[in-house]
Amino acid sequence: MIKIAPSILAADMLNMQRDVTRMVEAGCDMIHVDIMDAHFVPNLSYGPDMVRALKRAFTTPLDVHLMMDNPEKYIDVFADAGADLMTIHAEIPTDVRSVLESIRARGVKPGLSITPGTPAEAIRDLLPLCDLVLVMTVEPGFGGQKFRPEMMDKIRALRAMGYQGMIEADGGISRETLPALHEAGLSVAVLGTGLYKSENPKGDIAFAHAL
Ligand code: DX5
Ligand code: ZN
Repeated sequence: MIKIAPSILAADMLNMQRDVTRMVEAGCDMIHVDIMDAHFVPNLSYGPDMVRALKRAFTTPLDVHLMMDNPEKYIDVFADAGADLMTIHAEIPTDVRSVLESIRARGVKPGLSITPGTPAEAIRDLLPLCDLVLVMTVEPGFGGQKFRPEMMDKIRALRAMGYQGMIEADGGISRETLPALHEAGLSVAVLGTGLYKSENPKGDIAFAHAL
């Protein structure tokens, strides 16, 4: 089984409630919220108010992906807003270990993400602190990019290291790429364009759940 976390980056901003409702009704497992700070990535998205608004409207767990240089300053803000899972990046100029510990101390599940240039080996020592590892299958910053299949080796490497937590992949994923990701050991797939533009999101999610 692969769980599905639709990325709201691909939703229509002015119809967020309508679009997310469609994904919830299609059976998604989490709602993926991409927070971009214009420093760690060359793009800006939204902030804690979006997380708060989603929390008010939906009971589906919120999977918050912090593409930020200094997430330590915002842990309390996003925890108060209702994040269920908070994923930071291994490449940030901050002590990653202490940020992961602070996230857990707030009662939120900590996740750690690696961009395409970072090998799985780089986070080996941090794995015991992570409920989730997010393997980026595109350079973070923008939706709608092409899936990089060679990133699947990192999923295999993490499993070979004995990591038994959730492994999530994010970027360019579609129904077609899910079987190979499942084979590699994936637990959760983030889908933006691939699901919001799909004619049958319910069928796609059922397909992932049946793997
Ligand atoms: C990229 C984001 C992704 C993105 C996925 O920086 O982290 O969550 O929205 O969108 P697609 O599936 O369109 O690549
Ligand atoms: Zn993301």
